[in-house]
Amino acid sequence: MISIENLANQVGQTVSLSAWVTGVRSSGKIAFLQLRDGTGFIQAVVVKNEVPEEVFDLAKGLSQESSIQLKGEVRKDDRSPLGVELGVSDLKLVHGASDYPITPKEHGIDFLFDHRHLYLRHRKPWALLRIRDELERGIHDFLSDRGFIRFDAPFFMSTAAEDTTNLFEIDLFGEDKAYLSQSGQLYAEAGALAFGKVYTFGPTFRAEKSKTRKHLLEFWMVEPEVAFLDHQGNMQLQEDMLSYLVSRILEKRSYELKLLERDVTKLEPAAKGAYPRISYDAALSMLKEKGLELSWGDDFGAPHETALGEAFDRPIFIEAWPTKCKAFYMQPFENDPTRVKCADLIAPDGYGELIGGSERIHDLALLEQRIKEHHLPEAAINWYVDLRRFGSVPHSGFGIGLERTLAWIAGVDHVREVIPFPRMLTRMEP
Ligand code: 4AD
Ligand code: MG
Repeated sequence: MISIENLANQVGQTVSLSAWVTGVRSSGKIAFLQLRDGTGFIQAVVVKNEVPEEVFDLAKGLSQESSIQLKGEVRKDDRSPLGVELGVSDLKLVHGASDYPITPKEHGIDFLFDHRHLYLRHRKPWALLRIRDELERGIHDFLSDRGFIRFDAPFFMSTAAEDTTNLFEIDLFGEDKAYLSQSGQLYAEAGALAFGKVYTFGPTFRAEKSKTRKHLLEFWMVEPEVAFLDHQGNMQLQEDMLSYLVSRILEKRSYELKLLERDVTKLEPAAKGAYPRISYDAALSMLKEKGLELSWGDDFGAPHETALGEAFDRPIFIEAWPTKCKAFYMQPFENDPTRVKCADLIAPDGYGELIGGSERIHDLALLEQRIKEHHLPEAAINWYVDLRRFGSVPHSGFGIGLERTLAWIAGVDHVREVIPFPRMLTRMEP
C-alpha cells in the first residue's frame, strides 16, 4: 500500500491504494473519481474499455464517502496540486456509504460544525489540522533544541493564575472547590527554578462569555519559562520561536497552504524576525492618530489590536504596559513602578494578540504586597511565594495561544476552524 502524499515520486509505477471517495463524475466511457486517503487528495481515472465491465460499473456508481481499494498507474498531471493522477486497473468496494450528509453544495457553518466528526475529512479542516500538527511538532523541536524540558502542569487548580473573573469552578464532592487551569505559568515557574528552562503545553480554560472569532472556552497554550532571563531576552526568544515556526510551516506545509489559498507572501516577513517593539505609550499615540482614543491604563479591544496590527507587515510587540491593567506577578520597571516589564505580541491582519509574556516579580516583599492588593488566597498560593524565598532569581516567560497563532498562519477567520472539536459558548457537541 502507498499513501497519496508519496505518489509524486512513483510516476510510471503501478500502486495499490486504500481510500475514500469524495466525488464521482462519469460519462458513458470514463469515470473520474476524487479520492482521499488521509494523507492527501487525488483524482483517479477509470476508462471503460481498459477495465473489466464490473469495475467500470462499480466506479461510476460509487457514492460519496464509500471506502475502496484500488490498483492503478501513477501518471504525471500538471493540473493536480500533487502533480499526479491515477489510471485505475482494478477496484474493490470496502464499504458503500449512503446519504452522506455533507454534500458538495454549500452548507452553513453551523451545519458543518454539527457534523464536525465528518467535516474533519474535508479539504479545509484536513489542511488546517495537518498544519496544526506541524506547528505542535515545530514547538517541541524548537524548544527541545534550545535545552527546554517539557513540564506538565495540573489542570485542576486551587487559585487563579490570571484574571479571577473567568474561572471555571469545579465542585469537589460538595466539600471544596477547585478551578480549571487558565494557565500553567505558576507551575512552570516552579519548573524553571528546578530545571532552568521548561515549557508547559496543554489545554487551558477561560470562562469568557464572548462570541468573538478569537475566543474558545478551551484552547491550547504553550508556556515557556526561563530562569535568569530578563524582559528583553524574553521578547527575543518569542521572536526566534515564532519566526522559526512560520518558516517551518511555509516549508513543510506548502501543499496545505495552497489548498487553503493562503497568500503566503503575507507570511514571509514574519518568518524573517525583526518584530517591531513599541511601547504602550507610543501605541496609544498611534491609536489616537487613527481616531481610536484611549485613556492611559485602558486595555486594548479588538479594534485597537486590529489597527495596530494592520500598520505593520509582521507581528509587533507592545511592551511596558501600565501596572494597573496587568497580572499580579509582573515585574515593574526599577525607574518607574507604574509600568511593568511585559509585552503582548500582536499579529497582522486583525488576528489580535498571539502571545502574552513578562518578566516575573522575584522580590519576596513585592510579591507578597501584590498578592494582597489582588485579594488572592494567601494560603493556597504560599507555595508560589516559596519560589521567592529560596534561591529567587529574575525569570521570564510567555504563553502563546496555539489556535490564534494557527488561525493567523493559515489565514482563516475563526479559531473554531483550527481545533478538532471546538468548545465555545455556543458549542459543546460533537
Ligand atoms: O495573555 P494570556 O492570558 O497570558 C497568560 O495566560 C500568561 N500566564 C502566559 C505566560 O506568561 N505564561 O494568554 C496567553 C495567550 C493569548 O495571547 C492568546 O493567544 C491565548 O493565550 N488566549 C486564547 N486563545 C483562545 N481563546 C481564548 N479564550 C484565549 N485567551 C487567551
Ligand atoms: Mg494577554
